[in-house]
Amino acid sequence: MIRLKSWTAGFSFITSLTALLMAVSSSAYTTSSAPLNYRNDTQMNEFIDDLMSRMTLEEKCGQLTMSAGHWNNTGPVVKQGGLDDIKEGRIGSFLSVYGADMTYQLQQVAVENSRLHIPLLFSHDVIHGFRTIFPVPIGQASSWDPDAVEEAAHIAAVEATASGVHWTYAPMVDIARDPRWGRIVEGWGEDPLLCSAMTVASVHGYQGNDLSRSDTLLACAKHFVAYGTIEGGRDYNSGEVTERTLREVYLPSFHAAVDAGVETFMSAFNDIGGVPCHANPYLTRGILRDEWAFPGLVVSDYTGIKELLNHGVADTREKAGIRALKAGVDIDMLSDIYNELPAAVKAGDLDISYIDEAVRRVLVAKYKLGLFEDPYRYCSGKKEAQQSLTHEHRAAARELAEKSIVLLKNNNALLPLSKNMDSVAVIGPLADEPHSCLGSWAAAGKAEDAVTILTGLKSHLPDTQITYVQGCSIDDDDTSGFAEATNAANQADAVILVLGEHRDMSAEAKCRTSIDLPGVQNDLAKAIIATEKPVVVVLMNGRPLSISWLEENAPAIVEAWYPGVEAGNAVARILLGDVNPSGKLPVTFPRSVGQIPIYYNHRNTGRPFDAADTYTTRYLDSPITPLYPFGYGLSYTSFAYDALSLSEAEINEGDSVEVTVNVTNDGEREGSEVVQLYIRDLVGDTARPVRELRGFKRVFLLPGEARTVHFTLTEDDFSCYDAAMTWRVEPGRFQIFVGGNSVDTLSKELLIKGK
Ligand code: BGC
Repeated sequence: MIRLKSWTAGFSFITSLTALLMAVSSSAYTTSSAPLNYRNDTQMNEFIDDLMSRMTLEEKCGQLTMSAGHWNNTGPVVKQGGLDDIKEGRIGSFLSVYGADMTYQLQQVAVENSRLHIPLLFSHDVIHGFRTIFPVPIGQASSWDPDAVEEAAHIAAVEATASGVHWTYAPMVDIARDPRWGRIVEGWGEDPLLCSAMTVASVHGYQGNDLSRSDTLLACAKHFVAYGTIEGGRDYNSGEVTERTLREVYLPSFHAAVDAGVETFMSAFNDIGGVPCHANPYLTRGILRDEWAFPGLVVSDYTGIKELLNHGVADTREKAGIRALKAGVDIDMLSDIYNELPAAVKAGDLDISYIDEAVRRVLVAKYKLGLFEDPYRYCSGKKEAQQSLTHEHRAAARELAEKSIVLLKNNNALLPLSKNMDSVAVIGPLADEPHSCLGSWAAAGKAEDAVTILTGLKSHLPDTQITYVQGCSIDDDDTSGFAEATNAANQADAVILVLGEHRDMSAEAKCRTSIDLPGVQNDLAKAIIATEKPVVVVLMNGRPLSISWLEENAPAIVEAWYPGVEAGNAVARILLGDVNPSGKLPVTFPRSVGQIPIYYNHRNTGRPFDAADTYTTRYLDSPITPLYPFGYGLSYTSFAYDALSLSEAEINEGDSVEVTVNVTNDGEREGSEVVQLYIRDLVGDTARPVRELRGFKRVFLLPGEARTVHFTLTEDDFSCYDAAMTWRVEPGRFQIFVGGNSVDTLSKELLIKGK
């Protein structure tokens, strides 16, 4: 159950996370200055006061209403009657309308033909790039490189704004512990600190530090909140979460977004314990506005307000609208219910102050974007043509894709492959599939822009004979292509087997009860690996897959996620050793679906697993450990950790401690390592997680080079909610772990003495 509590504690927790992220970041953020503060802008307030004084109730509700465009083969179109609605002030914003021409034309209708000339706001799901598609978010998170993620968001903003987009529904900052849930692909994984780091980076990248620039747009932290808790990993389902888990796991990334200056939030579809997030004043007014002082806009999710009827918390459209608005949802996306609220105000069922505060937020957003100054600022056909999919944007997409690829297995240093091979067989249903290179939510991305893995290998191996055989498809059980595939494998020096899920198997409404490789792909892998040729499995997928058979039998496995428009070049450069892999998993890989939920920061239980004792936590038919743990990823070189030390073995409550460790590249190639710091509060008022990430740092080391890596742990890093939900340090013993993943670590004990 979620109950009211004192707010300040959670705030200091996030402040600390953000500070820690800044402290451990390997290089400075490019947008180092804080977002401009418009809150006290008298001119803006006077302008908005004046405008609102001239608005009718109906026009106000129109500003709170979002309509959608859709695309046919002539481009974006609006619903029938949509132009009249704009003229009459019944639409304040649009979803999924983009393109310099289209947005210009619609904007013209609004500013020239509506009574008050209020410009429209154009929004779109720009999730991992606009035209230049970067890796899907779970892939980006695998880079553990906030600077690169910020750059990707900035490039997406440059491209999207040139096409008239003012507002993106990103980042999705939901923690995901359930890989059945298709939307795990859209987020940053399972850890609050990593998720917060990526959230901050992405918000900075989209919004920059001046929203009125024509290359920055509004970001949106979504989906508020605890969407990842939905039961059975089934989209739109109900969630349950305790206040502790809500505050420790699901809220920090949202709070980090607020601290980073995010301008908008989106409510989540799910209910929590029976209270739909679209009708939850505790969350949207209590936590978001009162506790965190969020001044920005809250938008409903797609028809989320209308769905309050299905949830069974309202029996008329009007009551659903009143509940949502009163709960703090400012914009009605696609339910078209807020346009009906004037009747409720006139009947005395809704105080107009609720409408006024929401309208003010919409107008503030438009003002900050500079739309009242120049409504056409963002729709420039010239910029759209010049700034789309440039050489530089492609290069950034390739670099981030390279950083996001995770090497899961590499027996006998099979990888990197030699560039002098005579022949290579490229096999598998995803080897030459451009749509899946882009992944879901590909905005304005085009399949024809994508470099497939086959194409990438061909261009990086110009003198090698490359044979391509699909082998099987993903969706059916047809094994008739196996013979041709094994034949090709038998004749090649090496095989690259590209398996996984096609892009429409993850993201919204794409949940699975199995997380195995779909179709007959595992059988194809068995047939190919039985040839005893050197086989490298490249996976493209949007969720952790249960690939125990591959882990036992494939010589090498590379997790590529959906790498984006430069997929093939990035994968080829990794496989051929032009780039040394450095990605680390942002999420645990289960051995089987039955282990879900499985995450690294679990509690110890009263009966932790003991092989010698049956009555300890275990399964009869599986180990309880994951297939690959959180933070895991190999390199073509190796990194040795030693000399972990703390500046003090004992500190007083409230003090900080310095942690240092030596990291040596003791292999033969240069490479980057993500050094990870975890803590455990050994004895608490409540049972604490066995490990909690408190810092990370990417370090680049030449062969033989050693580096001392420093972290500072402050009071907030040791704090937690005690049994009474008070945020504080509980004096006592803590363990500090440092290593290259969440399992293989060095550790030292620290004593925190009470005052
Ligand atoms: C999704 C959101 C998305 C919105 C607008 C909804 O169905 O849940 O994540 O931003 O549609 O496209």
